[in-house]
Amino acid sequence: CENQDGRPLRQRLLVVANRLPVSAVRRGEDSWSLEISAGGLVSALLGVKEFEARWIGWAGVNVPDEIGQKALTRALAEKRCIPVFLDEEIVHQYYNGYCNNILWPVFHYLGLPQEDRLATTRSFQSQFAAYKKANQMFADVVNKHYEEGDVVWCHDYHLMFLPKCLKEYSSNMKVGWFLHTPFPSSEIHRTLPSRSELLRSVLAADLVGFHTYDYARHFVSACTRILGLEGTPEGVEDQGRLTRVAAFPIGIDSDRFIRALEVPQVQDHIKELEERFSGRKVMLGVDRLDMIKGIPQKILAFEKFLEENSHWRDKVVLLQIAVPTRTDVPEYQKLTSQVHEIVGRINGRFGTLTAVPIHHLDRSLDFPALCALYAVTDVALVTSLRDGMNLVSYEFVACQDSKKGVLILSEFAGAAQSLGAGAILVNPWNITEVADSIRQALTMSCEEREKRHRHNFAHVTTHTAQEWAETFVSELNDTVIEAQLRTRQ
Ligand code: F6P
Repeated sequence: CENQDGRPLRQRLLVVANRLPVSAVRRGEDSWSLEISAGGLVSALLGVKEFEARWIGWAGVNVPDEIGQKALTRALAEKRCIPVFLDEEIVHQYYNGYCNNILWPVFHYLGLPQEDRLATTRSFQSQFAAYKKANQMFADVVNKHYEEGDVVWCHDYHLMFLPKCLKEYSSNMKVGWFLHTPFPSSEIHRTLPSRSELLRSVLAADLVGFHTYDYARHFVSACTRILGLEGTPEGVEDQGRLTRVAAFPIGIDSDRFIRALEVPQVQDHIKELEERFSGRKVMLGVDRLDMIKGIPQKILAFEKFLEENSHWRDKVVLLQIAVPTRTDVPEYQKLTSQVHEIVGRINGRFGTLTAVPIHHLDRSLDFPALCALYAVTDVALVTSLRDGMNLVSYEFVACQDSKKGVLILSEFAGAAQSLGAGAILVNPWNITEVADSIRQALTMSCEEREKRHRHNFAHVTTHTAQEWAETFVSELNDTVIEAQLRTRQ
């Protein structure tokens, strides 16, 4: 198909995710400003360009009044975003509760929050009901904007119920669902009281995607063991209907980072940072302040390194950017205090009147500052306890073509499967091993750094977000065509 000017028609894509790529801040009764949201999903989806995409999701803010809702809808429309308005109670039960206090820790192998396991179990029913209600609200908005032939791409654990709701509206809708977290072993998934309903709802999609082959395999075995369905090399079959299941490793828009390094503002930042930390090696952590990111364990490993390598104490600094997230969830509040306590103790122990070993920031950085920081870093520490993919590791590699710094990477991050050969892989739970890997990284020869960087840079610049999205959408189109052919036969 072509436009009137002969250009090929771009397929319309409705991208549905809990969080829109922009978050809204109210400036007046009917005025709003929009800021880029934090997180890997947003970082990747911003790199997806070659589609006629509309975004449907929550703007991260409660807007109870009609004037505010209308004004925000208008402001978002300029960014091709369509809001789903969730009230405070729904956000509390669905987002803080079922999504972030139950599914998130369970999918990352951390189990339910320790202290309130019983309370969580008791509130389970009401939170699950809110989860379903919220998913239905997303489905209603999708349905309102859906046009025949659109591809509807649902994202993440917040919206496992959405494929089913959408297919109830129209069984012809092309629906894909992609998970940005790990999908855990079926033995973990089966502990969820709503285990079967969640699986069945996801299976309503035509195509189900994961970052790694292992996550896809876990999903298929959960369907076979818990639902008794048949797993095939293509996916999961239920009474002759196939849901295609496959791995589609995500990437970033690497050019955006590489180009940014040429911008004068970023060059100025780089100079400032080099002067500020001259004579010291820079180690960097950039994480949302989330328990899966293993920030306390990372800092304890750094402390062990300083303890055992006293000659390094005044020659290295750890910059930890900890972006606040899900601040209404008690587990996250506890984590913030815990991290502050550990950083304070270590800085008190190893700091001097003129320097501290750890610079910890509870905030995000703007894009130019972030790129500059990546570029001056000697060693990046990405030591998540579990992580669907982790795109910070990709962003770091993209900004390192002159420095060729070392990436220390958790073996439990999806990225270990793509960047493992160039990184130093570690078990983040083993503080001694991480401390040793810091020493290894700081003393690595130029040749070795160059070789490792080449490997990772080649991967990051060829496996981009755009390619990821194109592969998923074309697989979804093919899957639907094949299913139509099968039913005609
Ligand atoms: O898959 C993880 C994810 O959903 C990503 O979008 C992002 O890394 C993070 O969680 C964002 O979390 P939230 O929207 O709760 O701040």
